[in-house]
Amino acid sequence: MATLTITELLAQLNWRYATKAFDPEEKIHETTMEALEDSLVLSPSSFGLQPWKFIIVEDQAVKEQLLPLTWNQPQTRDCSHFVVMAYNDSFELSEVDRYLNATVEARGGDVSDHDALKGMMVGFIQRSIDGATIDDWCKNQVYIALGQLMASAAVLGIDACPMEGINPPEIDKVLGLETSGFKTLVACALGYRDESDKYADLPKIRYPKDEIIEHR
Ligand SMILES: Cc1cc2nc3c(=O)[nH]c(=O)nc-3n(C[C@H](O)[C@H](O)[C@H](O)COP(=O)(O)O)c2cc1C
Repeated sequence: MATLTITELLAQLNWRYATKAFDPEEKIHETTMEALEDSLVLSPSSFGLQPWKFIIVEDQAVKEQLLPLTWNQPQTRDCSHFVVMAYNDSFELSEVDRYLNATVEARGGDVSDHDALKGMMVGFIQRSIDGATIDDWCKNQVYIALGQLMASAAVLGIDACPMEGINPPEIDKVLGLETSGFKTLVACALGYRDESDKYADLPKIRYPKDEIIEHR
């Protein structure tokens, strides 16, 4: 069921831009913020394993503390909500059982119904742990959530700035993540653009569609 027309969707995706200046006075309404949190929870991930944690910073004092840890980008201080997106840096095979137990809880049946899937998941995770690619895999999943968050925000008319210009280890210290099993990867500032932001009206810089999309 389409709830947006094609025109509306593309209008919102064109309206969206990496906001450089937020209006510090405008705060996202609680209900809207809850929807954006749901959008994070609903993000898809490989095998559905959700190797992530999202810390939403609304406290102005904490945002000020994070400012120098984000290359002094004013978005951190002036946004309404600053979302720190962390990956599971100690991903273990036990996550497979956790997922399968959650599957049975949500859909019924028995864990043993999923033995074939379990074998595949365990094989993949074990190979990734052995090959030291597990962290990369976890990080990739977090970026999917970032994409979903940005698109959801755009559809709801909320401005966002994805931010890799950050100092993850120092942010981990401020947020007390060091012993949590999660590490900061990327962030996303959310709020409302300030009318002074000249980036809002700049033309998009995108390579030609026929160069980046091929049809077979
Ligand atoms: C993963 C990621 C990290 C980014 N990090 C920053 C950042 O730290 N600061 C910033 O101002 N913009 C950042 N950007 C914004 C990009 O520069 C911007 O999305 C790109 O130039 C395209 O412009 P548009 O999003 O305004 O269409 C980041 C974008 C992505 C996707």
